[in-house]
Parts: sequence; structure tokens; C-alpha cells
Amino acid sequence: MLRRRFLQHLAASPLFLALTENASAETVGNPDEAINLFDLRDAAEKNIAPQHWGYLMTGSDDDATVQANREGFNRFRIRPRRFNDVSKIDMSIEMFDRKYPSPIFLSPAGSQAAFHPQGELATARAAGAKGHQMILSTTSSTSVGDVAEAYGHPLWFQLYPTPEWPVTEGLIRRAEAAGCPLLALTVDTATHSNRETLAFAKRAVSVDCSVCHRYEFPESIGRKANFRGIDVSRLKTFQRGYDWKLIDRIRKTTAMKLVPKGVQTPEDAEECVRRGMDGVWVSNHGGRQLNSLFSTIESLPDIVQAVGKKIPILIDSGFRRGTDVFKALAIGADAVCIGRPYLWGLGAFGQAGVEKALDLFRAEMVYDMSLAGTPNIASITGAFVERR
Ligand SMILES: Cc1cc2nc3c(=O)[nH]c(=O)nc-3n(C[C@H](O)[C@H](O)[C@H](O)COP(=O)(O)O)c2cc1C
Repeated sequence: MLRRRFLQHLAASPLFLALTENASAETVGNPDEAINLFDLRDAAEKNIAPQHWGYLMTGSDDDATVQANREGFNRFRIRPRRFNDVSKIDMSIEMFDRKYPSPIFLSPAGSQAAFHPQGELATARAAGAKGHQMILSTTSSTSVGDVAEAYGHPLWFQLYPTPEWPVTEGLIRRAEAAGCPLLALTVDTATHSNRETLAFAKRAVSVDCSVCHRYEFPESIGRKANFRGIDVSRLKTFQRGYDWKLIDRIRKTTAMKLVPKGVQTPEDAEECVRRGMDGVWVSNHGGRQLNSLFSTIESLPDIVQAVGKKIPILIDSGFRRGTDVFKALAIGADAVCIGRPYLWGLGAFGQAGVEKALDLFRAEMVYDMSLAGTPNIASITGAFVERR
């Protein structure tokens, strides 16, 4: 009964409409058969337990920001130029002294063992093999040291602040020991959010989620890989926001680069520049935190103007197509991060599925850059996109 009501809720929700885009009638049996990311999504849904699927797909409240993130791309159109030499397409970029074959990075996502037994290790091997930057979540299933080894390149670490400085410092030291050159500071999670799609998914199954996820502190967090060996006994909650006092303290504690993740206004972006941040990451957490936000692609133009090329701009939330990536680069982003799409690949086929998700993004980008008349990333300028 509850499962039926959950399905009815899904069918009526904007999320469902977003989910059905480009759905094919059958699910694919191996990564090579996947025509697009939505093939991987459908194959993943078959493999992943409903409550974990709810965790993967959920937004907050009625998932309006999840939907807005997709709709936002339709407000921009590409303006192609016809007489350029596109016989060679080069989508390589350089950022923070590392060269990348493409500007497509992997956003941090917690608890990836929920989607595939090899979790972050499979993701790391795929991202490492294809040369994409991986950013590991504070709440990963596998520790930053082990994931860094599997990745084989400098791994970035995403840091959730905790109300207890010694715990936060312990996480920073662990990331340093793993050789991470950069911390992504997630600034949009001052508290939990109202994740109704997840709540409906949990209610629809008879599994007792508290077996795996006991929400009392400090036990639950102490069992997470990156917290092992750190004294979490004083931790009463995981959530707190970042303020500049805390960021300044982190700055004094580590030489790692600092990039706030979750910026959505030009005011905050400007402040990041003024305060000496190394980059700014435009994100609304894939629509999972505050609801009723603009899509990140719509927020991007004002942020680009505020930052004025002083520091790199990363962006995520809702990117599913090469044309989405192209538009962000044209508006002025330096790299595009993807979340759910590679997790779909992971859930569908493990490492091979993550590789396929990344291949699809790059393959679509080759089409898009060729057809738009932009042979390299530097040539994708504001002249190639127009707001409707
Ligand atoms: C299952 C899941 C877990 C996530 N966990 C984290 C996390 O631990 N830390 C974080 O900063 N962002 C987390 N995010 C947000 C992503 O980093 C990213 O901002 C978002 O997924 C991008 O949107 P997209 O999924 O539409 O591509 C998570 C997202 C998902 C889907």
C-alpha cells in the first residue's frame, strides 16, 4: 500500500517528469549498449535498493529545484559559427597546475557503497583511468587514503564542517596525509533538508534503515570511514554552517587550496574573491538542500561577472548533456561537475558504468564543439550562447 502511494507520489511529482525524459522502453544489459545517461539511470534503478534509490534521486520538499536545474538549460540557446576549422577537437583544460583531458569533474557524493559494493573505489578507478578530477565526500564509504590510492592522481576532498574543531581538524589532516591538494568546503548544508522523495522511499519499504543508519550521534558518524580514529565522542550533531571565522581558521591550518561549494549569488562569489578563496563552486547541491532556488545555470552569468576571471569557477547541478556543459563553459565556467549521472553508471555497472557515463559526456561534447564551430575550450566564449 505504502509502496503504491510512493509510486503515485512519484508519478505526480515534477521529479517523475524529469526522470522520464529520454527514457527508453528497455533497460540496457551492459554499458556499451547505453545510448545516453538515462539508459544508465534506468539500469541503475533496477539494481539499487528502493531506499538507496530514494537517497540518490531525492531533492528537497517537492523537488522543485531538481526540476529547475534541468529547465534552466532551456533558457539558453547555442549560437553556432560555421566557418571555423573543427577538424581537431581539443577539450583539454588546465586548472590549479593540473592538465585534464576534459573540463568534466566528479562532484562529491557520500555513501557510494549504497549504489555498488565497490562504491568510491570503482568511481576512483574510472575517474583515474579517464583523467577526470574526482572530489571525495567527507561521508564516503571508503577512506580518503584508500580512494586516493585507487584514483592514482591528486584527489580533492570535500569537507563538511563539524561543530567540534578537533574533528574538523582531524578530517583536514587525513586529507593532507592522503595527498589532497584542495578542500571543497560545502557551504549549503547549515542543517539537514526536507528530503521528501527519500522519506517516501523509506516509508514504502519494510527495511529498517536504522540498522545501517543510526541517526544518534556520535555512533553513526564514528562509523564513517573518514572519521575512524578521530575522537567524535563530543559530536552531538554533524551539521553547522561555514562562516568566515571558521574558513579563516581552516586557511591558517592547512596549505590546501580552498574552494567553497554551494555559492549561488554574485554577492557571495565576490566575497570569496575578496577573502582569497582559490576558486568558487556554483552549486545548489543538485536541488537537495534549500528548495525554490534558481537553477545554477541561471545563477551563473551574474557570478561570472562578479568573479571577473580572478579565480576559477566550477559549477554543478542538473548537468546531463554535452550541450549543458557547453553552455556553462560559454557563459564563463571553467569546469563542470556531475553528480547523479556517474552514480547511475556506478549503480548500473560499477567502474565500467562510471567510465561509460564519462565517455558519454565527452562524446556529446565532441559533437557539440564540432557543430558549434569551437575547436577548443578557449574558443567557447559568450558569443556562442544567448539567453532567451
Ligand atoms: C547521492 C548524493 C550524495 C551527495 N553527497 C554529497 C556530499 O557528501 N557532499 C557534498 O558536498 N555534496 C553531495 N552531494 C551533492 C553533489 O556534490 C552535487 O552538488 C550534486 O549531485 C550535483 O547535482 P546533480 O546530481 O544533478 O549532477 C550529493 C549528491 C547526491 C546525488
